[in-house]
Amino acid sequence: MSVNGRGREQGLRAESEKTVLLESMELAEGGSRGFRLPAEAGGAEGFAVRRGAAIFAYVNRCPHTGAPLDWSPDQFLNADGSYIICAMHGALFEIESGRCIHGPCVNQLLEPLSVEVEEGRLLLRSRGVSFGERD
Ligand code: FES
Repeated sequence: MSVNGRGREQGLRAESEKTVLLESMELAEGGSRGFRLPAEAGGAEGFAVRRGAAIFAYVNRCPHTGAPLDWSPDQFLNADGSYIICAMHGALFEIESGRCIHGPCVNQLLEPLSVEVEEGRLLLRSRGVSFGERD
């Protein structure tokens, strides 16, 4: 389901302390998906990347200029899927830590989001450290 023409899935709602970011977290190994944070969490765009059983999520904002990272809707990774890449100037970020290892913002960090997958949905716990998948 596309909401804003960038492949963002809607259906945000609070469930107890958590917020649903994506109703269907169909994310293949090395895949990435964008979403919009709810207004109460800042309303910014975010994205999630699967690495094995773990899901890592960040605010979609490059620490270099604040530009969005994706080079196409839901495309946040470099060609071989080993790093998050910024479309603007090609900075590379470690998927697990969000730390820039190449480019104009070396050692700066993406802002992590604390997320989990529950019953196939991506849930936001809070802005902060990312969590792995739960069943
Ligand atoms: S805006 Fe991301 S590397 Fe320059």
